[in-house]
Amino acid sequence: MADFNTFLQDHADCERKASAMAMSFVAKYPDRQAIIPELIETGIEELQHFQQVYEILKSRGVMLTHEIQEDPYIKKLLALCRTGRDERFMDRLLLASIIECRGAERFKLVYEALEPGETKKFYHNLWASEAKHGNIFVKMALEYFSEADVYKRLEELNELEGGIVLSLPIRAALH
Ligand SMILES: [Fe+2]
Ligand SMILES: [Fe+2]
Repeated sequence: MADFNTFLQDHADCERKASAMAMSFVAKYPDRQAIIPELIETGIEELQHFQQVYEILKSRGVMLTHEIQEDPYIKKLLALCRTGRDERFMDRLLLASIIECRGAERFKLVYEALEPGETKKFYHNLWASEAKHGNIFVKMALEYFSEADVYKRLEELNELEGGIVLSLPIRAALH
């Protein structure tokens, strides 16, 4: 919060990437038809978030940055993906859910730290929206895999994600 402008720049980058991630599922798994409408919906919502963060940046006289260097959090998470078509598909969906839930947690913290106003309201809404996305990606996994398999893997990945978060330095960024 002491460097909120830098945080906002990173946040904008994360929203843009979240939109791209949702759409990359559509590009990579065109045969998984049951989840395509929700993926498109999610991609649009993330792009709207990007637009809203951009407006906040603009109102503060802060520019977007060049693509911020690879996010160490995301990089470490993606390295947890198993190989094999189905395993990879499941892991990508569950990691997407975990990323969304972590985002929701962080937006709640930002919301709590902000003074009353439009930006505070925005972060409150984002918290709810990202928590919803967290559920959606698990629901998508449940379209294709058993409840037992999904929740077992989700627990494993959550455990690993917790370790990754603890290993990262604290900086003015979402992760
Ligand atoms: Fe978002
Ligand atoms: Fe999201």
